Amino acid sequence: MVPEVSENPEAAILSFLAESGDEYASGEALSGKLGLTKADVWKYVEALRHQGYRIDTVPARGYRLVSKPDTLSALELSWRLETHDIAQRVDYLAQVVSTNARAVEWALSGAPHGAVVIAETQTDGRGRRGRKWESPAGLNLYCSLVLRPDLPPVRAPELTLVGAVAVADALRGAGIEAVIKWPNDVCVGERKIAGLLTELAAERERVQHVVLGVGVNLNAGPSDFSPEVSAFATSLRQELGHPVDRAVFAAALFNRLEHWLDLHEEDGFAAIGRAWRDMATTLGTEVLVKMEGEELMGQAVDIDETGALLVLPAGAEKPVRVVAGDVQQMRRHAARSTDF
Ligand code: BTN
Repeated sequence: MVPEVSENPEAAILSFLAESGDEYASGEALSGKLGLTKADVWKYVEALRHQGYRIDTVPARGYRLVSKPDTLSALELSWRLETHDIAQRVDYLAQVVSTNARAVEWALSGAPHGAVVIAETQTDGRGRRGRKWESPAGLNLYCSLVLRPDLPPVRAPELTLVGAVAVADALRGAGIEAVIKWPNDVCVGERKIAGLLTELAAERERVQHVVLGVGVNLNAGPSDFSPEVSAFATSLRQELGHPVDRAVFAAALFNRLEHWLDLHEEDGFAAIGRAWRDMATTLGTEVLVKMEGEELMGQAVDIDETGALLVLPAGAEKPVRVVAGDVQQMRRHAARSTDF
């Protein structure tokens, strides 16, 4: 979406130049279309150059975007966003302990719905169940969104599934067959490409905020992770065979996330459940679920209306409801977990 010039003239110029591709856009065309003076166009082009955009100028022909920096800045995202709330506020950091921790602080000090913390690297990225999320610098997407849904706390876990659907959807849009493994691992085949971690703050009746943390492996190669992680991980680059534009992916993810959040708000969990089931690999498989001090083996038959996994142990008549745990999907000859 082309941003309003008055709100963000640099983004509007970038959008215009990107649309012109290899063609030069004349100063008149830019100033006419965007309602800026030619002097303003020049001033903003200079500002863009200072931020790493290479913009060629040829007298009598105009401006051409030659290259752009590999960044996830608010500017780089803004002209690709089609959202009303998601990523309309961006805190973009070179390094942070954990984007989730930062987003929780921001939420507590009043961040609006949709605000997002993005970092190039995390020194202590958090995974599920106390694990670490390896966050090599400048290669992937590490972000945490502040959400303020109008939901009772018992329904907050649904948002993790909304997030998983959005991530898998965005990855499919980028050209790979991403699938979801309950509750929130996004995989390609048996290799994990993305993970989600939600943190909730609630009163008795209503959610105050949810922080939805998302890590997606985009341009990392096997040597960017520890051997333990790279044995089970993959990235978009590894799957496609070429590097990807991280800003294009991040903006697409935020666009898809808002679509699925809106649907969730309007129609409830049913539509999300259908999309989740369509993309999930867990259902119909034999699973071993590891919970706090307990294990459960059986067939994963469905999810319920809250997103809990329903597991039917051999010989049992009724499925057991699993709210949290690690799931190993059993294969005929071997068991394997994608958890890391
Ligand atoms: C998992 O274990 O699968 C969940 C991983 C979640 C990782 C992301 S990266 C961005 C955000 N910040 C964190 O510290 N964790 C999440």
